[in-house]
Amino acid sequence: MQIVIVDDNRVNVALLKVLARQLTDQPAMEFTDAVAALAWCESHPFDLLLLDYMMPGLDGLSFLAQLRARPDKASVPVLMVTASHETEVRYEALRRGANDFLTKPIDRIEFLARSRNMLALRQSQQALADRAAWLAAEVDKATRVIVEREYDTILRLSRAAEYRDPETGMHLARMARYAQLIGRNLGMDAEQQQTLLRAAPMHDIGKVGIPDAILLKPGKLDAAEWATMREHSAIGYQILRDSPSPLLQMAAVIAHSHHEKFDGSGYPLGLAGTAIPLVGRIVAVADVLDALTSRRPYKEAWTFEAALALLREQSGTQFDPACVEAVVESWPEVLAIHAEFRDEAGGPHADLV
Ligand SMILES: [Fe+2]
Repeated sequence: MQIVIVDDNRVNVALLKVLARQLTDQPAMEFTDAVAALAWCESHPFDLLLLDYMMPGLDGLSFLAQLRARPDKASVPVLMVTASHETEVRYEALRRGANDFLTKPIDRIEFLARSRNMLALRQSQQALADRAAWLAAEVDKATRVIVEREYDTILRLSRAAEYRDPETGMHLARMARYAQLIGRNLGMDAEQQQTLLRAAPMHDIGKVGIPDAILLKPGKLDAAEWATMREHSAIGYQILRDSPSPLLQMAAVIAHSHHEKFDGSGYPLGLAGTAIPLVGRIVAVADVLDALTSRRPYKEAWTFEAALALLREQSGTQFDPACVEAVVESWPEVLAIHAEFRDEAGGPHADLV
């Protein structure tokens, strides 16, 4: 263990150094200059400080106050060396965080006993700190496992829904990444982006509640069928709402709001402008962009130029202009995502994100 000796008197330093060798094999650090000693103590780990009171330049009490002001040195043991009559100094030293005292002239037996107590205290402190750090790391590890399991469960829920939806897993992978890109360009932090990436694929989970006759109908839907189809927003919200999981909370908001339109003409609530949750406005752009540029049984894929023109045309009416701008400014990344997650690369079994 590292002992530090600070005393302007070289004879005292030499004596303390010899005594310290009886406590630990590690040579003590010794200083006769208090200012140099404080600089060293502030930047190095140590286990016991033997600190003289009367020193030129910086006395022991000021030394102690400056040392204790550092959070990493708030509890390292300090033995203050004072003359026996300096009672007021001792009181002040206690107030400033000294752990114990040694009286000049130094008594060998007293020195060894008090120093051993201090070193034992230090060892206990370090064992506790090590244990706390280990526990924090374990909790962190366990939390990561729980989050991954939660995500895995959600991924499988989304996959189950895909079996009832003609849209492919690649559509979900692409639209989730477009959504993340828009979120990033609008200033979301990394954690929000990650939650959005994982929540966005659940936007149409409510389609599990739509009858096959409507969901899988090859021809055009009539007005009543459209009304039923539109219920998928509210059904998705009912499935996902009231979860303690932040991921599912965001997914519920997205499911509910991704068909709202900026001018208030969308569904299910007819919200307008910023009354529509931001993640809903983001997913509206991401979802439509990928739907337009993908081939569907009833239509060919649009070119990206045509899709871009539609986004701009609908900016301010169907879409939040800020979300349109956010995707347009990273158009090369949009093209790269589209190229990376091609429909041929996977079907309903492909990993979503
Ligand atoms: Fe939808």
